[in-house]
Amino acid sequence: MSIAHGIKTLGILGSGQMGLGIAYVAALRARVPVLIHDRSEAQLKKGLAFMDKLLEKDVAKGKITSTDAKEARDRVTVVLPDRGLVGLRDADMVIEAVSENLSLKEAIFRGLSAELGPEPILASNTSSISITKIAAATLPDGEGASSEKGKKSASRVVGLHFFNPVPVMKLVELISALQTSKDTLDRARAFAIACGKEVTTSQDVPGFVSNALLMPFINEAIMCLEKGVATRDDIDKTLKLGMNHPMGPLQLADFIGLDTCLAIQQTLYTGTGDSKYRPSILLERLVDAQWLGKKSGKGFYEYPA
Ligand code: 3HC
Repeated sequence: MSIAHGIKTLGILGSGQMGLGIAYVAALRARVPVLIHDRSEAQLKKGLAFMDKLLEKDVAKGKITSTDAKEARDRVTVVLPDRGLVGLRDADMVIEAVSENLSLKEAIFRGLSAELGPEPILASNTSSISITKIAAATLPDGEGASSEKGKKSASRVVGLHFFNPVPVMKLVELISALQTSKDTLDRARAFAIACGKEVTTSQDVPGFVSNALLMPFINEAIMCLEKGVATRDDIDKTLKLGMNHPMGPLQLADFIGLDTCLAIQQTLYTGTGDSKYRPSILLERLVDAQWLGKKSGKGFYEYPA
């Protein structure tokens, strides 16, 4: 018997490429009302404009009707920065999709727990950070991890890892924290399926399955470039034509964002203590230069505005 997700309103925190993509599939495919919040009004505007463009393109391709597109767009409500997290109070599930930074995520989950109370499911779209650590940040003031309130609060936290571009990629990786309840896991899985996704599960290890495999591969490709083993174009061409990857690893790194790649690789390195995960120095330098890939106009490749 399939479990109902029971989500009547979804909250999303972060309107970058991931948050926006999640809003798109939730509004269009799961057909739930979405509240989307970001601390940057400019980012919210940019995200919503991109969503309008995607919907228009899907109508033009005949994938959806203009009524589907209008209904999906009408389901999305922007929560402006000045309203803060309290603007997500009507949500019965919130998916956090902000940058890959543990202290930022801990502060957000602490805030969500304080503002929204113990009921809503709190999901993180983190690519690599421990869901168990994030869940521990939700303990209400004065409550220990083993008090009834403490256990309940942490038990509704779960990892729901989408892939970029969210409207296209078929997978969601589901991660249980040590504290996550079965009900939370079942409902989060049902919600991902309602968004049109297939679901795999991973234990809460650094990078989960997806990035424990993908990011060392990308890091190794950057090290090949760094050592002069091959040119940028030949590294990417080898993987595209030799292995049928849709993008070469350097192009994919630019697409994901070099800051995100570095943050994930650092989590693998510090989380395991294994030197095989040492981030490439070239990757660090590119991020130092703020050459972050497609989103900043320059990474391994150039992206004219
Ligand atoms: N948003 C929405 N849709 C998009 C899109 C975007 N940003 N980019 C492309 N698309 C759609 C296009 O509209 C098109 O749709 P259609 O089939 O209905 O016409 C379809 O995707 C194919 O696009 P294109 O023909 O323009 O280009 P490609 O055939 O080259 O495909 C791609 C583009 C889907 C991005 C493909 O290159 C690809 O699959 N690349 C690998 C992506 C990948 O590995 N993603 C995972 C990254 S890891 C991750 O996200 C995890 C994180 O934790 C790091």
